[in-house]
Amino acid sequence: MLDLSPRPGDLEPIETASRDEIASVQLERLKWSLAHAYNNSPFYRKSFDDAGVHPEDLRQLSDLAKFPFTVKSDLRENYPFGMFSVPKEKLARVHASSGTTGRPTVVGYTRKDIDTWASVVARSIRASGGRAGDMVHVAYGYGLFTGGLGAHYGAEALGCTVVPVSGGMTERQVTLMQDFRPDIIMVTPSYMLSILDEFRHAGIDPRESSMKVGIFGAEPWTNAMRKEIEDAFDMHAVDIYGLSEVMGPGVANECVETKDGLHIWEDHFYPEVIDPETGQVLPDGEKGELVFTSLTKEAFPIIRYRTRDLTRLLPGTARSMRRMEKVTGRSDDMMIVRGVNVFPTQIEEQVLKCSGLSPHYRIELVRDGRMDTMIVFCEALPDSAGAEAREQSARELGHHVKSVIGISVKVRVLDPGAMERSVGKAKRVDDKRLTG
Ligand code: DLL
Repeated sequence: MLDLSPRPGDLEPIETASRDEIASVQLERLKWSLAHAYNNSPFYRKSFDDAGVHPEDLRQLSDLAKFPFTVKSDLRENYPFGMFSVPKEKLARVHASSGTTGRPTVVGYTRKDIDTWASVVARSIRASGGRAGDMVHVAYGYGLFTGGLGAHYGAEALGCTVVPVSGGMTERQVTLMQDFRPDIIMVTPSYMLSILDEFRHAGIDPRESSMKVGIFGAEPWTNAMRKEIEDAFDMHAVDIYGLSEVMGPGVANECVETKDGLHIWEDHFYPEVIDPETGQVLPDGEKGELVFTSLTKEAFPIIRYRTRDLTRLLPGTARSMRRMEKVTGRSDDMMIVRGVNVFPTQIEEQVLKCSGLSPHYRIELVRDGRMDTMIVFCEALPDSAGAEAREQSARELGHHVKSVIGISVKVRVLDPGAMERSVGKAKRVDDKRLTG
């Protein structure tokens, strides 16, 4: 794989600033952000007043712990624009979650917010090894989802050529990649696997593709999946994180030269990790729930937003800004199976260890009498599709899960290609315990 480390002059000064410089920028911006939210959003005014705090109570960064949290239901209850801090005519754009589980959550951006967002995504693409002049194939969905347009504006801001393909029509994606020869692809890791299948289906060696970097996010994925994709395409696979409530993609990104967790762009997003039970702020290095406060956003400032993503904060390496460990689970995704806590990514790691299985998997939870049972659906590779090979793969996976995670699972090995493919965020778990 190519060496894509930054050269002198590639980085913005803030990316190599000292911790003191970063903290002083953060403090000044945090004061502004709290005052802006309090003065312009009735929601925040009430929330601070109810908690008995005022923006002026923040004298140092750690004082942020005195302020109340914001949660997803606050957005739902203030649907659509109730949490915004600028008049409607100042909005340049809105995005929203799909709203499959209740009212959609809506977020907004001023013109300046869009520029800030583009600048952090540009920084993320650069951290991933991209440079001006590169061609970027964007296969994140365009529309209300922040992935497509977020990636798009960032790539343009860096000076790249954007191919705005969006998700779906996988055959055409591969044709375009063969014809245009992009340097970079931005897509969910699960959809990248569908694209990989399509390369093989079309008889094209993925290692011969033009892509040197993939920037993957919007869903949890493991280092085992990174290896799978990097080996298959002979490319770097780099992690990008973000959420619409905080901005969209580009809140944090890995650096291609280290791939050791995601540097949080702390000059715009202030991170805390809390104990999800007590709400207490945890010291760096301890695992808990990630909480973000925006430092520069105008239309939709967000104060102490509980992401439900589980991770820990680590010191900077390739950049001076702190890192967050790769997010391998959200509290919402945690399954409790016979008293054992399990995340889908733990199953992913075990599936990827089995040489007869493709990387596609899905989990079903059912209730057998009074017992919870996990069924792992996976797929045989074409050269391991015979009855005996499948039985062997099923036994192997069951054994790995039992010995590493400590639960007994049923494994169903489907025909090659039988499992539904993801075009965006993969749905990994189907919990049938309540619906029967
Ligand atoms: O998924 C924004 C995004 C688009 C990020 C494209 C990266 C690339 P939402 O739809 O609001 O926004 O979903 C946010 O997705 O709280 C995490 O649970 C999960 N997530 C996002 N990035 C990662 C990642 C976009 N790199 C939710 N690793 C977040 C693990 C991720 N989970």
